[in-house]
Amino acid sequence: MPLLPALLLFLHLLAAAFWVGGMATMHFAVRPAAVASLEPPLRLPFMAAALSRFFVGVSTAIAVLLATGLGLVWLHGGFARVHWSVHAMFTLGLVMMALFLHLRFAPYPRLVRAVAAREWPVAAANLNTVRKLVSVNLVLGVLVFAIAVLGRAL
Ligand code: HEM
Repeated sequence: MPLLPALLLFLHLLAAAFWVGGMATMHFAVRPAAVASLEPPLRLPFMAAALSRFFVGVSTAIAVLLATGLGLVWLHGGFARVHWSVHAMFTLGLVMMALFLHLRFAPYPRLVRAVAAREWPVAAANLNTVRKLVSVNLVLGVLVFAIAVLGRAL
């Protein structure tokens, strides 16, 4: 494989691993540990701060995924010439990005505002919405990995 597509694929896989792996870490480790060890007045500000840092990384990963993914499609000669698995990856990737934009700009700002106002039940409800949307995106992300890699065999 020539250097340019290899470099684009490397960055593409790094961004996908960061996004999907980061969601798994937040979902299976950070949030359960916070629930087990912190009361709401400490847990909710902690989760809002952890999400704020994670979301900066996710926004960067999305920009890298789109730029490198579309760059690879272009190098392959356009969407008409790529395997069906790339079409599926692109479609599901766009759904994941739309879900991320929704959670980042609807329930997450409500969580931050509720934390600032010390309205713990409102903050907890919005964090729960974020948790559900992240778990949907985690399932989709694993599905995209499966389609991208296993789909090549079909
Ligand atoms: C949304 C825009 C996206 C586009 C346009 C795109 C496009 C591409 C292209 C063209 C390839 C190279 C395929 C090949 O060389 O045969 C690729 C590989 C890959 N992509 Fe994406 N992708 C996108 C999003 C994602 C997302 C969101 C994930 C995972 C969460 C992902 C995971 C992968 C993986 C694991 C591979 C490696 C497949 C392999 O080489 O076996 N992609 N992508």
